[in-house]
This record gives sequence, structure tokens and C-alpha cells, in this order.
Amino acid sequence: MISVALDGPAGAGKSTIAREVARRLGFLHVDTGALYRAIGLDALRRGADPANPEEVLPFLEDTRVSLKFTGEGQRIYLRGEDVSEAIRIPQASMAASTVSAIPEVRTFLLELQRELARNHNVIMDGRDIGTVVLPQADVKIFLTADPKERAMRRYKELVAKGSTADYDTVLREVQRRDYNDSHRAAAPLCQAEDAWLCDTTDLTLEGVIQAVVEHIRQKSEGAL
Ligand code: DC
Repeated sequence: MISVALDGPAGAGKSTIAREVARRLGFLHVDTGALYRAIGLDALRRGADPANPEEVLPFLEDTRVSLKFTGEGQRIYLRGEDVSEAIRIPQASMAASTVSAIPEVRTFLLELQRELARNHNVIMDGRDIGTVVLPQADVKIFLTADPKERAMRRYKELVAKGSTADYDTVLREVQRRDYNDSHRAAAPLCQAEDAWLCDTTDLTLEGVIQAVVEHIRQKSEGAL
């Protein structure tokens, strides 16, 4: 099995790029952020404070998060309910970033992620895939872009979905999540030593996709 770890900050384009690269190579795309989002959403729905382990952890066993892979990509279920769209609201993004700092939440999701990589050729996107989840991944990529560019991409995405978001708020959220994600004690966002750094600030989407596909082909030498 070939595993590709794709890490990077919020809004670097990881999911969009991973989805298309997976399609071109015939790999499974695993969006691990969705797992943290589902737990964050669950906490919000229960009225629990996502920052407080005492309010989050007692419900973890009952959270029942599962993934399904369809021709259209990954769907995520929370106790059997498809929450693939619900987890995308900005409140769920922030709640995900907050619950993801709780070490027990990370441990709870670890085996589910590793299991997928044992059984499939995967491109897995997240924050700690190359450093913690799959330290032996065949290919590691760290995708990044300037925060202002990432906020602009996220803003356009939200507007296209009919949201009334404003750019400054989106930028502040991107900066806050960057800070949270890279300063937490448990598995903080950081580039694995052996990861290839890909800065997408001035690249087109197709340019990034082609560069990533090429890099994976080179690294996995004939296995594809
Ligand atoms: O990739 P995303 O924006 O959907 O991720 C939502 C949050 O989940 C992000 O702010 C940090 C957390 N996360 C994480 O801690 N580790 C991962 N592997 C993926 C996401």
C-alpha cells in the first residue's frame, strides 16, 4: 500500500488538491479534518464547551464517527446522520480547532486513520499526518500559502455557497486557527523533517495538482 501524507494550515487547498490527486491516481482521499469537525459539531450541538475536556470527553465514546467513500468522495456520519455539509459551517471550524487540542480526542481518532492507510492506497490530508498518524508514509507533502491568500480563497468559497461572510472576519479566523493549530501541545501543526514543502501562493490549482502528482510518482518509484 502507498500512503501520502498531506499536511498544512487551514485554507492551503489541501482537501481540493488531495481530492483531485486521489482521483487521478486512483487513491482513497481521506480528509481527516472532517473527523475533528464532527466532534466539534457534536460538542456544539450538546451545548458543551469545546475547550473543556470535562465537557467533551464523557461523550466521546458515544460520538460514533464514521466515514464512507463514494465515487463523489468522502462522506462523514455522526451517529448515523450524514453531517458532511453541517461540519463546514464556520462555528464547526473553530470548534474543531479547539477540540483537536485535547490529546484524548486525537488518540480517539488515531486508529481509525491508521486503519484506512493499512488497507488502501491513500492520500490523507490533515495537520499531523506526516508527523504522528503516518510517520512512515511513503510520501510527505507540506502544503502552504500566504495567510492573506488562504483567507481570500476561503472567503470566495463561502461566498460561492451563498454565505454573507466578510473577508476581514475570515482572515482573522484563519490567523486564529493557524495560531491554535501550531501552538497546541498535542501534535501541533508542523512540517515533518522529510516532507516536501510546496508553497501554493502564486500557483494555479492545476499547477499545484500537477506538481503534487509528479512528486508522488517520483517518490513512489514504479510502484504506481
Ligand atoms: O482541515 P480542516 O480545516 O477541516 O480541519 C479542521 C480543524 O481540525 C483544524 O483547525 C485542526 C484540526 N485538525 C487536526 O488537528 N489534525 C488533523 N489531522 C486535521 C485537522
